[in-house]
Amino acid sequence: MSIDELIQNWDGEYVAARYERPAEAWIFIAVHSTRLGHAVGGTRMKVYDAPEEGLRDAQRLAEGMTYKWAGIDFGLGGGKAVIALSRPLDEAERDRLLERHGALIESMGGAFSTGADLGVGPELVDVIRRNTRYALGHSAGDPGPYTSLGVLSGCRAVAAEVFGSRDLAGRTVLIQGAGDVGVPLSRRLVEAGAQLKLADIDPARAWDLAAQYGAEVVAAEEVYDEPCDIFAPCAVGGVLNEQTIARLSCRAVCGAANNQLESDADAERLHARGILYAPDFIANAGGAIALPGLELMGMSEEEVIASIESIEGTLGEIFQEARQNDESPLSAAMRRAGRVLERGPVAR
Ligand code: PHE
Repeated sequence: MSIDELIQNWDGEYVAARYERPAEAWIFIAVHSTRLGHAVGGTRMKVYDAPEEGLRDAQRLAEGMTYKWAGIDFGLGGGKAVIALSRPLDEAERDRLLERHGALIESMGGAFSTGADLGVGPELVDVIRRNTRYALGHSAGDPGPYTSLGVLSGCRAVAAEVFGSRDLAGRTVLIQGAGDVGVPLSRRLVEAGAQLKLADIDPARAWDLAAQYGAEVVAAEEVYDEPCDIFAPCAVGGVLNEQTIARLSCRAVCGAANNQLESDADAERLHARGILYAPDFIANAGGAIALPGLELMGMSEEEVIASIESIEGTLGEIFQEARQNDESPLSAAMRRAGRVLERGPVAR
């Protein structure tokens, strides 16, 4: 589909698109739903084969943010920015582009606030912030450690459901992606007594991290076949699909990546194989709670931690509802988010 068709056929509220000639890049800001509040979501930047793919990514990620906020009943709306590069940029070009992205966000007057995402670490959020007040991450800094706390809480909920105990001691967790979330998650899991297995497309990253924790390294292409209790995708999306799900040798999936399922049907495939799936938009909500919590809503660090740790209880309720209905946890989580969207915002 062409860019205009993709925009017109989308069920979200609007898309702002801007072509930046100097960098030969497109900026897409997709706002899916402001039913619960103004739109907040990260900015992703990477090279795409075609701008349409970047737009599609922005739309799917924005939708994911709507469900993320609604699923944890946080009064914000779903939006996301994607900077679709046509080629790698040098540092000066990249900064110039991010500055212009900041100016674009500022011109929206607060309708959309952003922060870090894939390809845009906290140091690049600082570049965006040169031109806008609506970039989160200055005091909270890196969302990765917060996201990893939420994933750890998710793993406890998964263990309780699958093994009857939230204790992670002796459980094997396979982390895909030794990055912003994978690194702090490794530490938390080891502290919780879990056995670690690590994979990364850059083997050196996996080996470095594994050396720190005495973990096992798994080759990136073998990650789907590797036996483990919990598989934690913490890198790119779309890793759970018809092909990979058939190979999985785990009891559950709980990780930080956005849009882990290639399509919603993959949740049914996991369910049919008896693999418990922690819906990504709930399991990875930790970073999303921390940034606006600390910087927009005036929550204290303690309140933020407590809110992130409540992901365990939220997932527990979702698993229970799914079990009672013999359905995938994705269906239960979508219904839960749907109830919150139906109800609408609550006065705070
Ligand atoms: N990009 C991360 C996410 O999708 C963290 C983030 C959330 C950043 C909200 C900014 C705003 O959850």
